[in-house]
Amino acid sequence: MEVIVRSNAEQTAQLAALFIAKQIRQKPNLVLGLATGRTMERIYAILVQMHHNDDLDFSKCHTFNLDEYIGLPTEDHNSYRSYMNHHLFKQVNIDINNTHVPNGMAADVTHEGKRYEEAIKKVGGIDLQLLGIGETGHIGFNEPLSSLMSRTRDKSLTPKTRQQNAEMFGGDPNKVPSRAMTMGVGTILEARSILMVALGSSKAAIVAKAVEGPITSMISASALQLHSSCKILLDEDAASELAGREYYDWVFQNEPEYESYR
Ligand code: GLP
Repeated sequence: MEVIVRSNAEQTAQLAALFIAKQIRQKPNLVLGLATGRTMERIYAILVQMHHNDDLDFSKCHTFNLDEYIGLPTEDHNSYRSYMNHHLFKQVNIDINNTHVPNGMAADVTHEGKRYEEAIKKVGGIDLQLLGIGETGHIGFNEPLSSLMSRTRDKSLTPKTRQQNAEMFGGDPNKVPSRAMTMGVGTILEARSILMVALGSSKAAIVAKAVEGPITSMISASALQLHSSCKILLDEDAASELAGREYYDWVFQNEPEYESYR
């Protein structure tokens, strides 16, 4: 795991977009795992700019989103399918048939979980998984006590998560669906590389626990410590409770891999 800290949210989003764009340019048929949430909005906006200004080509990419609310039809503006169409898919040259979001309206959620896992397998697995983190430590919607080996399935959301996402539902946590389909922690860990991004002081405590604390199913993001190719990208505020900061900065300044990004 490598932790990279940038001075503000804009610089963090810029670097995240550069990492993603580099992988798309190296492998045009990249399989991207995608995340939703406020953290991702600027990253997608920069990728759209790169598509228009620097010929970043999505035409051969496949994408798999982490999660979707159960009970929201795709056309609902709060569905993650709507979010993705709006922020990325409709603004770049991706083939919409190659974009995948779990079906939150599936009559049989167990079958939907299996179908999603098989679709990921069919294209050879995820090359790069983009992640945010919730204040409960969730990645995707893997709330506390999600098995570290879990696969795509339905999951109950915690009151804290519904509160955190209430802003998009007119401020009322009761309007946030209580369940979601989500890739499992085990599914996420199978991605060949992972990029987690967190911004702002509200994420500082959970980021420190996930990165420097023990691996525990109480904090799904702590399972990322098991992954051999995982970058954690933070702004100053989200990094403010990390104990090992000096070493992380030294690595970023000295690793040859990061030379072109410094
Ligand atoms: C949401 C999503 C996560 C996301 C997280 C953080 O509930 N399920 O995938 O990473 O919460 O969201 P935000 O970036 O808005 O803080």
